[in-house]
Amino acid sequence: MEAAEPEDSAVAERLLTSSLRTSYDPVVEIDWDAPHTPGAYWLPPHRSSLYGTALWSGLREEQRVELTKHEVASTASAGLWFETILMQMLIRHYYDADPTSPRAQYALTEVADECRHSIMFGRLIEAMGCPVYRADPFDHLLGRFLKATASGPRMYAAILVAEEILDAFQREIMADESLQPLIRMVSRIHVVEEARHVRFARDELARQVAAAGPVGMAYARLLVGRAAHSIANRLVHPDAYAAVGIPPAVGRAAARANPYWQATLRWSAARVHDHLAGVGLVGGPGRLLWARAGLI
Ligand SMILES: [Fe+2]
Ligand SMILES: [Fe+2]
Repeated sequence: MEAAEPEDSAVAERLLTSSLRTSYDPVVEIDWDAPHTPGAYWLPPHRSSLYGTALWSGLREEQRVELTKHEVASTASAGLWFETILMQMLIRHYYDADPTSPRAQYALTEVADECRHSIMFGRLIEAMGCPVYRADPFDHLLGRFLKATASGPRMYAAILVAEEILDAFQREIMADESLQPLIRMVSRIHVVEEARHVRFARDELARQVAAAGPVGMAYARLLVGRAAHSIANRLVHPDAYAAVGIPPAVGRAAARANPYWQATLRWSAARVHDHLAGVGLVGGPGRLLWARAGLI
């Protein structure tokens, strides 16, 4: 009888059991046709990228609500894009794994979660009547590269950056009763299932960091910094400002210079930054990218 390192799969086994107990199918769980609540924000107003700026003061109340709706659509578009990359990374990883192992089976369970999430975000954008805010051609290409090649520490670290930044916003949204019921429900489903993904990614990351050499770690720090930079930049697509009559370049410049938005970006990244810094994955030129993105 081989006792195949019991601690090796303990986390995955627990997550598989938890997935069995609390998983959601948003297609049936959410009333997609329910009317929206008039006047309710989609994002706490203080998390809008323009909150506190002169542009914000110049908007009427209903335009502010509209802006948060498009900001949510932009974030959902970025979430969807990243989930597509993530699913392919996990499947690629699974290709070499033992299909009978709990870790491999949890990786597939996570892919199944992400399939439902991406449908949910697609439905959300559709229900809000917003456009899909796509990544620019450069980031789109970068994503194609990442999903085709990433492995080792950089793969799970990039996953954590995307999941934890979105998670910070969603935890606040689900707790705020003044917001639109639709976005609160979407956030609640996502937070419950993402908590498991974050747990799994941290566990896998620790293993991969332990196995990585100095060159692999240096490359990972750079790539993770680049991923963090592109995620932070993509949270609010500049075209979202056009929905309330603000030229995209003007809105983006105002957001970048906005101390409230700068504080929001640092707040959203604090948890994942501290974790990644703690395992040696923030540093060197990669750290400059975190700083340039306003995440630290
Ligand atoms: Fe997800
Ligand atoms: Fe996830």
